[in-house]
Amino acid sequence: MTEIGKDINKAKQLLEKGELVGIPTETVYGLAGNALDPSAVGKIFETKNRPSFDPLIVHTGSVEQISAYTTEILPELAVLAEQFWPGPLTLLLPKKSIVPDLVTSGLDQVAVRVPSHPLTRELLLSLDFPLAAPSANPFGYISPTCASHVVDQLDGKISYVLDGGSCQIGLESTIVGVEEGQITIYRLGGVEVSEIKKAVGNVLILPQSSSNPKSPGMLKSHYAPRIPFVVGDLSQLVPHYLSKGEKIGVLSFDIAYDDVAPEHQRILSKTGDFREAAQNLFAAMRYLDKQDVSVILSGEMPEKGLGKAVNDRLRRAAAR
Ligand code: TXA
Ligand code: MG
Repeated sequence: MTEIGKDINKAKQLLEKGELVGIPTETVYGLAGNALDPSAVGKIFETKNRPSFDPLIVHTGSVEQISAYTTEILPELAVLAEQFWPGPLTLLLPKKSIVPDLVTSGLDQVAVRVPSHPLTRELLLSLDFPLAAPSANPFGYISPTCASHVVDQLDGKISYVLDGGSCQIGLESTIVGVEEGQITIYRLGGVEVSEIKKAVGNVLILPQSSSNPKSPGMLKSHYAPRIPFVVGDLSQLVPHYLSKGEKIGVLSFDIAYDDVAPEHQRILSKTGDFREAAQNLFAAMRYLDKQDVSVILSGEMPEKGLGKAVNDRLRRAAAR
């Protein structure tokens, strides 16, 4: 049985013993362990069923603490660190040898992030080691955005989840690094591309929906519900699948479908608000995945702002 609670001290004690704890962040919940302890890091890979070629993000409580784990904050990226930390940004930086190779899957760069969630910041600031934390879901499944999502899937595999409520952003962090002198976005996420461009000028965006050796975790199929998931134009998909006699679930950005039972549809934001839609995305996918439907049909959001990151998750959920 996994316990859910708000006891930072308990989380701290478990982590100090080398155990794993579910932690809230503003993006998604993480499955956290001592990043400097290879045995704790090994437990993370095991618990998530995650292949060892997919490296982990290292979380600290402050920008100052990061210097213990990286040789430098690359000057090109310093302005991003200053502007977006604490927050939904991950930077790829040259690693110091104190970070176990297991964390970075042998790469010479380490992904680091200072999350802004107050409970987790307090926890991080109280620890004398950083936390390695991937999203707290089994590898390939939908990321968790509240404590009960974590328990839904990892019940019994960890003893404690620190409950910080629903994640405010609801999408993972934006991952940024430097590739041949060019500032590069490896994963779209909570910080919008336009915000990054405003801070640093032009950036390269790596192809998102492909298996990319430069960002080993960006597998094409990810975030996948159990029930078949189809993304496209709902005004065509809904009548088409209904005419085939399928029992459909619908994930829509802003409008309801009269021909579909209300309990089989989820609307991300009735007012078309991008932040609200991103916040609701993973919970809506999880909800529909539990319904008695044969297929989940999903629309896309307008391809701008957070809509880009949401569409990326939807497309990868649909890829098999
Ligand atoms: O918002 C987030 O980033 C959440 C919360 C918990 O902080 N964490 C998260 O972790 O999304 P995870 O493990 O689900 O995704 C981390 C991604 C993977 O795609 C991985 O390949 C990439 O970061 N990554 C980690 N270290 C890397 C490195 N050294 N070089 C390139 N990519 C790296
Ligand atoms: Mg993940």
